[in-house]
Amino acid sequence: MPNADSWVVLKFGGTSVATRSQWDTIASLVRRCQASGEKPLVVASALDGTQDQLWTLIRSVRDGGGDQEKGKVWDAHVRLAKELGVDGEPLLAPHMQDLERLLLGIGLTAESSPATSARVLSTGELMISRLGAAFLESQGLPITWLDARTVLRSVNGSSNSVQGHFLAATCSGDPDVELQRRLAGCSIVLTQGQLASNEHDQTVRMGCGGADTSAACFAARLQASRMEIWTDVPGMFTTDPRKITSARLLHHLDYEEARELASTGADVLHPRCVDPLREHHIPLYVRCTDTPHLAGTKVADDVPGYGAQVKAISMRRGITLIAIETPRMWHQVGFLAKAFAIFERCGLSIGHVATSESSITVSIDPVQEVDYGAVDAAVHALGAFCRVRPIEPCASVSLVGRHLRSVLHELGPALEVLDEQRVLLVTQAASDLNFSFVVQERHADRLVKRLHNQVFGNIGAQDPFGPTYRELLASEEPVNVRPWWRRKYEELLALDTPSFVYDTATLRERSASVRDLPPIDRAFYAMKACSHPGVLRVFYREGLGFECVSPGELDLIHQLFPDIAPERILFTPNFAPRHEYSDGFDRAGYVTLDSLRPLELWPNVFANREVIVRVDPGRGQGHHRHVRTAGSQTKFGIAPSRLSALKALARDIGLNVSGLHAHVGSGILTPETWPEVAFFLGSLLERFPDVRHLNIGGGLGVPERPGVLPLNLEILSERLSRFKESHPQLELWMEPGRYFAAEAGVLLARVTQVKWKGARCYIGIETGMNSLIRPALYGSHHFIVNLTRIGEPAAMTADIVGPICETGDVLGHGRRLPRTREGDMLLVANAGAYGRVMSSAYNCRNPATETLLA
Ligand code: LLP
Repeated sequence: MPNADSWVVLKFGGTSVATRSQWDTIASLVRRCQASGEKPLVVASALDGTQDQLWTLIRSVRDGGGDQEKGKVWDAHVRLAKELGVDGEPLLAPHMQDLERLLLGIGLTAESSPATSARVLSTGELMISRLGAAFLESQGLPITWLDARTVLRSVNGSSNSVQGHFLAATCSGDPDVELQRRLAGCSIVLTQGQLASNEHDQTVRMGCGGADTSAACFAARLQASRMEIWTDVPGMFTTDPRKITSARLLHHLDYEEARELASTGADVLHPRCVDPLREHHIPLYVRCTDTPHLAGTKVADDVPGYGAQVKAISMRRGITLIAIETPRMWHQVGFLAKAFAIFERCGLSIGHVATSESSITVSIDPVQEVDYGAVDAAVHALGAFCRVRPIEPCASVSLVGRHLRSVLHELGPALEVLDEQRVLLVTQAASDLNFSFVVQERHADRLVKRLHNQVFGNIGAQDPFGPTYRELLASEEPVNVRPWWRRKYEELLALDTPSFVYDTATLRERSASVRDLPPIDRAFYAMKACSHPGVLRVFYREGLGFECVSPGELDLIHQLFPDIAPERILFTPNFAPRHEYSDGFDRAGYVTLDSLRPLELWPNVFANREVIVRVDPGRGQGHHRHVRTAGSQTKFGIAPSRLSALKALARDIGLNVSGLHAHVGSGILTPETWPEVAFFLGSLLERFPDVRHLNIGGGLGVPERPGVLPLNLEILSERLSRFKESHPQLELWMEPGRYFAAEAGVLLARVTQVKWKGARCYIGIETGMNSLIRPALYGSHHFIVNLTRIGEPAAMTADIVGPICETGDVLGHGRRLPRTREGDMLLVANAGAYGRVMSSAYNCRNPATETLLA
């Protein structure tokens, strides 16, 4: 149990402080620390993008250009303040005024000194920390806002250039009793990353990756019990997981390995932050703000060792190689010293070195904010006494791990991939922690991919290696879904299986969210998505209409609701026979016609009737090509070029066109789609003066995969309202199916067998593609959870399969689940739409039954 003054430093990167949900996570992490008697010190980086905007601003104002970027910086912060529900303007305005004064100075003098640049750049951290503190306070958390510059002092002479002094400062991480005393009375502290001050109280910055370094200095000074870096990937991986999703999580690393990985290219952690932590034995955790329940990577000195092993493959771009050749080097005393003195003078840090009797090749790490002309200057100075050849752009690719010398022979096959690359430099670190190759930058991605595949392609999730990034993502819930089944899991566990279960409250809430959009006059439910009578009753009570596509659907509606007003039924058949149209006119208020052919074949059926005409806008959208319903490759709708012919036919038989309709596809998440459809249909109105309603279709998607944002109904509504303003006489209709039902339904099934075959685990459940065919048919993704063990940490990776005799009978590939046993109940989420309605009794196995929860 930590003692009362046990500080924990939580550092959040620029991509972790950008949204309300991330700040909600920060608040809950802070609360969790408090609950276990720890004191959190939060270090916040500037909002992602702000640094670049401020740099652009400095350059542009200095060079006599405009200050447009200032508006962007302001807008981004004001928008976030609004999202956080805090009154941002008074908090931000003083910093903006400072910024304006500084810019005025830069503009007048046409000069930006490093000291002024440091102050301008710091606006980002100061503003975000003000907003963050106000938000946490509004959540009832007792926050102390701390100006980091009053604590962190740059070490005198830590850099030999003025640039470096102000923009790449170094601070000491010695224990700071004075600071500990000063903060003793505070329970939560929030401060800025990057910022420090010099001996004259001027603002200085810690340079690239500086927020990690300042957090580590705070941790060391406070003698914190741990430090956590919260970023946008859930830990450190065997390679960059954003590029290679088969990268495996590294559960733990020691400090040297972590620093090596960071300095050879892993950008989740800055190498400079490791030393202060190592010196004071402060464990470091690297975790992800958007998936805070994942444990991430632990860096400490008490982690288990695994002997000689490659742990990761990293890559650094932007490297310059300098090849220096001279025959005079042979036995020439002091030649190396002379050459290296030039690099020092130019402020260049050398990465790798290879020497021979007549040549030296050195790699120069990417030049940061410090000095752009330094490489040219060094080349020029070296040219005075030897032949110099700079080679750029290059990248260094490193194998990182322990005792690499002793595993070199095992790397044989992996190194074969180097054959085809031109390796410009090979080095092996004296520490035996890395083995690096410098190649031309354009070869680097491919080299990393192939090396990673060779080295890690066949290993499983065995310590220290965890699941792959792809597995971690596949096991995540899509964002922004606050699923009802988490609240009701006890009720679900008591149900018979296999069963589709629907939640009334969610059905109501989802349908109301579209029905109540101001520009929408009528909402119909596309009952093909789910036709369970209980579900239909819920929608009936909610006042929705029904979009039916077959006589069977019409039967069901009339049987369930004998008194239904015909205007609540819309009949939209496709390639239907004659009698279905006449039946439709009898039993539905509106019939949609999506072909000219029925008018030519059966004019009597349509004589003196009224129809809605479905037009093909020419471009389909949707989650899979099978569900895109517009364009020449699809069977739906009438091409606009045929509308004149339709008009002529209609006139001949006395058919009135009262509405126009288009539906471009299903599972669409871009809100602009429906306004575009509305404007498209609007453009046809001149030709159809009797049109009173436009049915802009369904197709509203829900997020299936993690990281995908839900459809923004606000934007949709706002744009449709604009359309309505220009067409006040028209009614707008929509006919969603999925959006109303998908997230309200889950499929429950019990585990029949857990089987290992080789290194692969299969979890079998009672029902499979006979109940839910979407994964097999569209490759669709459904989040799967072990309901019996809800809340337990993931411990295995498995394919979730059904009992059907087809290899495609898989509901989820490579899912991370807690240790799962026979009899456990699994829940397949997002199964309310196109689940049971598309099921079958294939293999004579009845599909899951259906249950409606009140
Ligand atoms: N209106 C028309 C004319 C339609 O063809 C459809 C769906 C809808 C409305 C409702 O679309 P929704 O709002 O549900 O996306 N089985 C596929 C979906 C097929 C959709 C067919 N037409 C799936 O599981 O994703």
